[in-house]
Amino acid sequence: MSAPTVLLLNGPNLNMLGTRQPEVYGTARLEDAVAVAERAAAEVGLRIDARQTNHEGQMIDWIHESRGAVAGIVVNPGGWTHTSVALADALVIPEVPIVEVHLSNVAAREPFRHHSYVSPIAAAVIAGCGVLGYDFAVRALAELLGER
Ligand code: DQA
Repeated sequence: MSAPTVLLLNGPNLNMLGTRQPEVYGTARLEDAVAVAERAAAEVGLRIDARQTNHEGQMIDWIHESRGAVAGIVVNPGGWTHTSVALADALVIPEVPIVEVHLSNVAAREPFRHHSYVSPIAAAVIAGCGVLGYDFAVRALAELLGER
């Protein structure tokens, strides 16, 4: 039997990781974050389908298409975290556990980053751990799936 799939979604500007504000987000690149997630997934018997987009409608389409095809979703919504009711609405559609991950500790940053539209529909939220957060997110999802 093949490993259950986890959809790993990265939102806007995360393709620029490594060069984008390294003092805030670190020097690791998006491919490093994905590799961290894939390594954790292999250890816990999951498979990663990693995607990044700067287009909100594209991300919403991917989430719709994932219904029935994925066991869970790990999402770093980037700036859409703080703005997008539509993304939060989409994330409940697949009816799978959601783990929200942020590289930075959003609670310690500007006030506009303190509110997340995604957190209320997430089973877990990980912030401030850099790319290691992607490891934690996958392991948290594995625990949540084990409990189902
Ligand atoms: C982020 C935090 C968001 O506030 C920001 O807009 C991002 C990245 C993080 O990973 O720390 O794009 O989600």
